[in-house]
Amino acid sequence: MTQHNDKTPPLILTPHDWHDYRLLDSGAGRKLEIVKNYRFIRPEPQALWQPHLDPQIWENDIDGEFISGAEEGGKWALSKNLPEQWSCQFENIRFFAMPTPFRHFGFFPEQSSHWQWCAEHIKKHRAKTNTPPRILNLFGYTGIASLHAAKAGAEVTHVDASKKATTLAFANRDHANMHDAPIRYITEDARSFCAREARRGRRYHGIILDPPKYGRGTKGEVWRMEDDIAPLLKTLKNLLADEPLFIVLTSYAIRASFLALHHLLADACAELGGSVQSGELAIQEHRHDADHERGRRIGQAIFARWQSNPD
Ligand SMILES: C[S@@+](CC[C@H](N)C(=O)[O-])C[C@H]1O[C@@H](n2cnc3c(N)ncnc32)[C@H](O)[C@@H]1O
Repeated sequence: MTQHNDKTPPLILTPHDWHDYRLLDSGAGRKLEIVKNYRFIRPEPQALWQPHLDPQIWENDIDGEFISGAEEGGKWALSKNLPEQWSCQFENIRFFAMPTPFRHFGFFPEQSSHWQWCAEHIKKHRAKTNTPPRILNLFGYTGIASLHAAKAGAEVTHVDASKKATTLAFANRDHANMHDAPIRYITEDARSFCAREARRGRRYHGIILDPPKYGRGTKGEVWRMEDDIAPLLKTLKNLLADEPLFIVLTSYAIRASFLALHHLLADACAELGGSVQSGELAIQEHRHDADHERGRRIGQAIFARWQSNPD
């Protein structure tokens, strides 16, 4: 049986090892961030507290601010000198950053905790079997998780229904100089792809999925997290290899606590043994380089992850 009970403590994971992203301060409903050499202010409704830094520091040399508004939720006010996109790096992987209409920067720094956790499993598998594990990255978008998994030694299948998202994933792959990496990019509805893979008998050692609250497949199929996630996890169970490593499920913007994902994943993996952890992916204020000077944390997403072997 899967090990989980009501005493399992939540994990609040914060990103480490970033040089090209920093949350400098937060408060009064906003956050002040540095992405490579550029400074941005974005709305952060969770920042109910007061900022630590002077208002002058907040407003000085700002390269862009996302202004919330009625018009499609808001828009960026950007400095004229800001390039359309620029290069960022995490560990040894380069990718593009840009201010998107969805108010993010084309990458999600809080996800690096998952990338590193998956990489540990991938490396252990390689050391044990001398073969690359197969990893499925569903709803893969920017593809940074796919690049990171491939760098760690996996063969990756990356699936996203949006052509635009896959174009960005290709651009990131090329920018990372990973044209020859063993990654298959598929533009398709995640459910149709998984159902077909199950029929074909394809199996994966690890599955990463970050489904949206609401989305559409390539043929207009509607994806609704509340209705569609449990059936998808059922299909995913049939896609697991005989000695599976992990499933990582992350969710943004749904009205649920991490406990909902915990119990959902524990249900889906009940017959597999192993254990489920859950909690939040948070970013953390970081004004100076010293690690002990890290500050307040802001939850960005909830997650649950299953692993076959304990840490
Ligand atoms: C929350 S984003 C994932 C972000 C990703 N974890 C990252 O770090 O880049 C959700 C993605 O799901 C895709 N999507 C939406 N509906 C889909 C569907 N039915 N099948 C496959 N992908 C879908 C969207 O195009 C979008 O790229």
